[in-house]
Amino acid sequence: FKKLEDFDFNGKRVLVRADLNVPVADGKVTDNTRIVRLGPTMSHIIEHGGTPVLLSHFGRPKGQVNAEFSLEFIVDAVKSAFGQPVEFVKTDWTNVDAAKAQLEAGAKGTIYIMENTRFHPGEEANDAELAARMASLGNIYLNDAFSAAHRAHASTEALARQLPSGAGRAMEMEMSALEAGLGKPKKPVIALVGGAKVSTKLDLLENLIHKVEALVIGGGMANTFLHSQGIDVGKSLCEKDLAETARRIYDKAADANCAIILPIDGVVAWHFEANAPNRTYGVEAMDQTGMMLDVGDHSIERIKGAIDEAKTLIWNGPLGAFELDPFGKGTIEVAKYAAKRTLDGKLTSVAGGGDTVAALAKAKVVNDFTYVSTAGGAFLEWMEGKPLPGVQAIKS
Ligand code: 3PG
Repeated sequence: FKKLEDFDFNGKRVLVRADLNVPVADGKVTDNTRIVRLGPTMSHIIEHGGTPVLLSHFGRPKGQVNAEFSLEFIVDAVKSAFGQPVEFVKTDWTNVDAAKAQLEAGAKGTIYIMENTRFHPGEEANDAELAARMASLGNIYLNDAFSAAHRAHASTEALARQLPSGAGRAMEMEMSALEAGLGKPKKPVIALVGGAKVSTKLDLLENLIHKVEALVIGGGMANTFLHSQGIDVGKSLCEKDLAETARRIYDKAADANCAIILPIDGVVAWHFEANAPNRTYGVEAMDQTGMMLDVGDHSIERIKGAIDEAKTLIWNGPLGAFELDPFGKGTIEVAKYAAKRTLDGKLTSVAGGGDTVAALAKAKVVNDFTYVSTAGGAFLEWMEGKPLPGVQAIKS
């Protein structure tokens, strides 16, 4: 795809697909990472005489104008992130004449933020007419929202086909980091996959066993695998109906020379709450009345040993109930270890997914990994090996 350097922005209005779908509490942005990462694209456009016009969805207003989902609240956060004047552009996306007039009357150096693209049903329908109205607002289209690239929507897909288009800097960085993670990685590669349920990660596991040399399975989903190996996991979270599927993945991995690493011990508690009394058991001798909420110390050591063997690590999903102290210990220790190997120049580490980023933040290592993606669903689909419509559209 084309990059910033491939365009002449002078005197042009540049439609930038951003992902301003940021976490909010009491009307305030609680994590501005997605905004901050737009910085290099914003400054490049402005320094080269162009005017950025940001397009984004926010939440899921289901194709209707709904004040609760207006993007107007984000103006202050964008202003303070970039120190540039920022103007909000209201529209219901049915008629964009007034929006166009506002943009045409605009001052140089101002960043414009358009109203939520999902206020019109054409957005999620990837409607070409809506995309044409969007296209009429600018001269160039850049997608800088990897985290929304798994959606084939008007502002991520159809619009890219109606204007000269390319990738913003954040998208470019994301793609090259992901390429280093799974595209053309330094081998051996180890993948860490955790989270509650196998059912949400089946495609991902099926893809990974053909791409990586070792696959560590943690979190609730490890219990389903342990159960499929004949281990009684007591009251632990376990999708018993997926035992057969887990067994099949296990066998396929062996055929593909991918070593599956399951917990050998687990921290068991009898209540799912912070600071619940707990004890560590070997998985073969689990207490049947409790539930495993984290990997145990022997498992942590084993995972560290496996990381020592790897040159590349990709990570999605926490290894235990990291949000409840002390059951985040496994995730945090492994995160710190991977961060240290990365800082020592021995490991390329790529992580993504909402919970994963929160867990790495808890371990205070977000900046020590080679790359941490802000994407949730898009990161998962990329790990599943699926083509992302938003990326395909700027490639062709
Ligand atoms: C995200 O937050 O993962 C993206 O903005 C996509 O949001 P969506 O799941 O509502 O499409």
